[in-house]
Amino acid sequence: MSLAGKHVVIVGGGSGIGLEVARRSAAAGASVHLGGRTQARLAAAAEPLGATWQVVDSTDQDSLAAFFGAVDRVDHLFTPGASYTVGPLRELSDEDAASPFVTKFWGQYHAVKHAVPRLAPDASIVLMSGAASVRPPGAAPAYVACNAAVEGLGRGLAVELAPVRVNVVAPGTIDGNLWAGRPADVREASFDQYSRDTLLHRVGKESEVADAVLYLFGSTYTTGSTLYPDGGYTLH
Ligand SMILES: NC(=O)c1ccc[n+]([C@@H]2O[C@H](COP(=O)([O-])OP(=O)(O)OC[C@H]3O[C@@H](n4cnc5c(N)ncnc54)[C@H](OP(=O)(O)O)[C@@H]3O)[C@@H](O)[C@H]2O)c1
Repeated sequence: MSLAGKHVVIVGGGSGIGLEVARRSAAAGASVHLGGRTQARLAAAAEPLGATWQVVDSTDQDSLAAFFGAVDRVDHLFTPGASYTVGPLRELSDEDAASPFVTKFWGQYHAVKHAVPRLAPDASIVLMSGAASVRPPGAAPAYVACNAAVEGLGRGLAVELAPVRVNVVAPGTIDGNLWAGRPADVREASFDQYSRDTLLHRVGKESEVADAVLYLFGSTYTTGSTLYPDGGYTLH
């Protein structure tokens, strides 16, 4: 797929799945603009891609307004930027339990709100969910509910923003930047469990999620859908 002449904006594009989508988009000819909270991370990510970047915190609407105010046009928007705490109802503070909603739900909602004036008429948006929405991997009810809410948000926005297309990607467990930052024993136990629980008996790669996102960017008759690059986790 060629993205020549297209402007791809990624909130949360300095690492992980967002950076992989940035690489794919740049390779397909797009001009890429990265957002995230850490200047050094964005600068390092952008340099080899010839991408532009600006610091943004999706939990802060003034920051989002400044970020999208500096963008001329958005052809494809991807919004994986979020950081939150996951855990059981019995153990998490109310603040931690709310954190997926604060960053992953409202962060994406407000990113889209501030992007709307810049969207091309045939633009597409891909929101980030997670396969936990359908099959909870453990005791993390607020995180599970947040992902389900993001998928509902995608359907709701697809109706409101048409003909702009809005879709959602909901990955399973992915071996990449997010898990690299967690303790090795936790990571290995989670990867082993996930590999047993999924049809393809392995965790996924960031590049495999990027494949799904690029498909949704380019699939001109697909809107309101959620795609699960999860190795069959939600079926097993
Ligand atoms: N990896 C998995 O197994 C997996 C599975 C299912 C779903 N997901 C979802 O994928 C998303 C991205 O995860 P990832 O695996 O790509 O890990 P990641 O490398 O941690 O990506 C998150 C990116 O978002 C940025 N970010 C965090 N909070 C932000 C905020 N408030 N405003 C703007 N940018 C922010 C981070 O940079 P700064 O810290 O510099 O801002 C980072 O570059 C998450 O929403 C996660 O729930 C991941």
